[in-house]
Amino acid sequence: MNDVLLEVDSVTKSFGDIVALSGVSAEFRAGEVVGLVGGNGAGKTTLLRLLCGLYRPTSGSAKGFIEGQSVDIYKMRDVVGVVPEATGLYARLTAWENIQYHSRLNGIPDEVAWTRTERFAKLLDFDSDLHRPTRGFSRGMRQKTALLRALSHGPKILLLDEPTGGLDVTSARMVRSLVRRLGDEGGTVIYSTHNLAEAQQVCDRIVIIHNGTVRADGAPEDLMTETNCENLEEAYVAFTGDVARTNSPVEDEGRIARAWRRLLTKRGGSSE
Ligand SMILES: Nc1ncnc2c1ncn2[C@@H]1O[C@H](COP(=O)(O)OP(=O)(O)OP(=O)(O)O)[C@@H](O)[C@H]1O
Ligand SMILES: [Mg+2]
Repeated sequence: MNDVLLEVDSVTKSFGDIVALSGVSAEFRAGEVVGLVGGNGAGKTTLLRLLCGLYRPTSGSAKGFIEGQSVDIYKMRDVVGVVPEATGLYARLTAWENIQYHSRLNGIPDEVAWTRTERFAKLLDFDSDLHRPTRGFSRGMRQKTALLRALSHGPKILLLDEPTGGLDVTSARMVRSLVRRLGDEGGTVIYSTHNLAEAQQVCDRIVIIHNGTVRADGAPEDLMTETNCENLEEAYVAFTGDVARTNSPVEDEGRIARAWRRLLTKRGGSSE
């Protein structure tokens, strides 16, 4: 349970003048489900891309571990499954053909990939759509295809960028229970989400990222105890100090109504 599989140490990642991550250190172990939470542009996707070897750190190091030996993180790709922010499916291929193409590239026999795909597709209530071309798929259907594709080579580590975004209530529940089950069976899941109630329910550990830095890293209960908060959303606000964006709904409604009236007046419309 304590085996570290992925590690970033004092990582900074810049894109020209933009510093997406600054001095980020974190470890990810076998059998844990870790949630990356943070606002838009906080650096979650950048961290996930560093963890799958797609980006190189500008400074600091990103390492993987195979049987306790440190390796270049890129060498972990055989054991890592990724659901990226943009699913990148081939529109003319069916869902299964997309998955098959990916698993063939990973040297997985078709029968093995199919057995895995069919099993998980049933769980996601997606088996009847597997032979449809992905052109015209809804966002949730694309998301499910990408998840099945990531699972098809039997990865030890799953990196998921907002995997429940766009899913209906039942499918999101399925994905949550799938993620939890993978963790309980010894797999590692690292995933970004904006849904704090979900993170509290599913994750063993939460890493709060704010403006490219890690503000907190711990079990959901510990983060709540540390801030004396009753739920993770309040703890998140306490750690990030993101108070300006957390007015009460009534205050927000008032602000929106005033802005709307100003806009209408400017356009010469009614202010009602
Ligand atoms: N390839 C890139 N080129 C330029 N800037 C980038 C690139 N990738 C990320 N950034 C910048 O790095 C910062 C962090 O972006 P990132 O996508 O990691 O945020 P995020 O936490 O995933 O946000 P969201 O919740 O909106 O998905 C942003 O300012 C973003 O514009
Ligand atoms: Mg993102």
